[in-house]
Amino acid sequence: MSGCTRLLTLALVALIAAACGGTQQPPAEQAKPAEPAAPAAGVAAAMHENLARVTVMQEAVIRGDIEAAAEPAKWIAENQPTAGLPAGQETVLADMKKQAAVVAGATDFKNAATATAMVVSYCGACHKAAQYTPSIPEPVKPAAEPGIRTYMVEHQWAADLLYQGLVIPSEERWQQGLAAMAVAPLAEKDRPKDAALTKEILEMGKKVQELAGKAKAAPDIGMKVAYYGEYLAGCASCHGLHGKVWGPGIPK
Ligand code: HEC
Ligand code: HEC
Repeated sequence: MSGCTRLLTLALVALIAAACGGTQQPPAEQAKPAEPAAPAAGVAAAMHENLARVTVMQEAVIRGDIEAAAEPAKWIAENQPTAGLPAGQETVLADMKKQAAVVAGATDFKNAATATAMVVSYCGACHKAAQYTPSIPEPVKPAAEPGIRTYMVEHQWAADLLYQGLVIPSEERWQQGLAAMAVAPLAEKDRPKDAALTKEILEMGKKVQELAGKAKAAPDIGMKVAYYGEYLAGCASCHGLHGKVWGPGIPK
């Protein structure tokens, strides 16, 4: 009996399909209840978005461009998955969203830098608790050439390694970042000719080497967040001073 009904349905489907030019999906197929989406797939997609936004946010903060940091920060604060996340991480998620909102509303680069460091640390806190290690490709080491641009790109590489070290989290990548951060200050001949800037650049070289040394001896996450935040704020303080013409993400 049911076989009969099925045949009849199939015949009807064929008829309807033929009537519609045979190009459409049989309605019986469409009527099937949709499989519930696997929560992990939704989470993974959201996580890729998270990573892309964090990258843009970090670059904007480094550039001292608080306005540009607001959009990705707002996205992170407002677009997190509500299902499929590891149990017991609700507070971490809430704290991450709160800090992203702080970046979105920041009016000075210091607050933006600190809150960015906090956001990134919460990414890693959840992954660690879930015992999940996202595979994030390592940033490419820039070619070692003399000159200020390469010097800057090396520091960008260091900042990228550090934030990946916090997001994954990975002690190895964090340590690679600290090593990259401690690159030799610019050679005299490679320094920009602007007298005031020469002094700033000189101080930057010494300051970040000191910071990298201190951070090497700081194993806990609170200290890491503080040092990474300070590093970012240092970049912003110089780039921001000179308008939005210096720093990552500026078309050359
Ligand atoms: C509340 C927990 C939680 C927070 C917060 C969190 N993640 Fe995740 N993340 C996960 C889980 C769970 C997975 C594994 C998803 C899966 O099953 O593929 C994941 C996976 C990832 C992946 C790998 C995706 C893939 O499968 O290829 C990346 C990249 C990632 N997260 C980045 C981030 C970034 C960046 C942040 C912070 C802005 C963040 N995550 C915050 C829980 C979290
Ligand atoms: C004392 C001032 C100063 C500080 C501090 C500083 N920068 Fe820069 N940055 C510059 C100047 C000047 C340029 C423009 C160089 C050029 O293109 O001639 C620049 C450009 C850049 C660029 C663009 C390079 C290119 O042309 O592709 C990046 C990336 C960058 N900085 C990253 C950083 C990072 C990361 C930090 C912090 C760790 C940082 N900078 C700290 C002065 C500074």
